[in-house]
Amino acid sequence: MDLYEALYTTRAMRRVEPDPIPDEVVALMMDAAIRAPSGGNAQNWRWLFVTDPDLRAALAVLYREAWEELTTTLYAGRLERAEAAGDETTVRILRSSQWLADHFAEVPLVVLPYHRNDPSGASIYPAVWNLMLAARGQGVGCTLTTILGMFRHDEVAELLGVPTDRGWTNAAAVTCGYPRGRWGVAARAPAHEVAFADRWGEPPPWRVDRPLWPDRIPEPRP
Ligand SMILES: Cc1cc2nc3c(=O)[nH]c(=O)nc-3n(C[C@H](O)[C@H](O)[C@H](O)COP(=O)(O)O)c2cc1C
Repeated sequence: MDLYEALYTTRAMRRVEPDPIPDEVVALMMDAAIRAPSGGNAQNWRWLFVTDPDLRAALAVLYREAWEELTTTLYAGRLERAEAAGDETTVRILRSSQWLADHFAEVPLVVLPYHRNDPSGASIYPAVWNLMLAARGQGVGCTLTTILGMFRHDEVAELLGVPTDRGWTNAAAVTCGYPRGRWGVAARAPAHEVAFADRWGEPPPWRVDRPLWPDRIPEPRP
C-alpha cells in the first residue's frame, strides 16, 4: 500500500468482523511496531495480544463499565448536545464508540501495550501508531482506546497478570479486526489553520483547502 494512503486513511475502525486475524499478520503488526523510535532507544515496552474468548469477554465487561463511567461523567450529555446542535461528526463518533462498547467481546484481537519510565507516553505511542499503520496495510482496522487504562487499569492488570508492581503501565487497548465499514480520509481542521510560521499566530506561506492525498502529493526529490 502507498505510504500516503496509509497515513491519510488510517482511522478509528470500531465496527469490525469477528473473524480472527492470521498469526502472520499479527507478527507483522508487532514487528512493525517495534521499529518505532523510543527515547534513548530504551524500548521499555511489553505488548499483550489478547485473543482468548473468555479473556476478551472479561475485558468487554470492564470496557463497558469504563464507557459508562465516561458517559456519565466527562462525556455526560455530550450526545444529546451534539444531536441538538446537528453536530453530525460528534454524533457519529459517539455512536460508533457506543457500538464498540456494546460489541467489545466480538473484537477478535485486543492489543494492550504496556510501558514504564515513560510518563508522557512519548516513547510508546509512535510504536502503537506503527502497529496500526501495519495493520492498515493488511486491511485490518484498529482503534486506539484509552478508557480501560483510565478507569479499570488495575482490574485489567489483575485479569492479565501484569506485574504493575514493576512499573508496567497500560498505554492503550487497541482493538483490531477486519472492517465492516469503509476506509476514508480523516476529516480534520485544515493544516494551515493549526500551523504557524516562525512565531505563534503567524500564518504559514501555504494553504491546504482539501486533502493533498490522493492527487496532489509532491514528487520526492530524486
Ligand atoms: C489518545 C486517544 C485515546 C482514544 N480513546 C478512545 C477510546 O477510549 N474509545 C474509543 O472508541 N476511541 C478512542 N480514540 C479514538 C478517537 O476517538 C478517534 O481517533 C477520533 O475520534 C478521530 O477519529 P478517526 O480516527 O476515525 O479520524 C482515542 C484516540 C486517541 C488518539
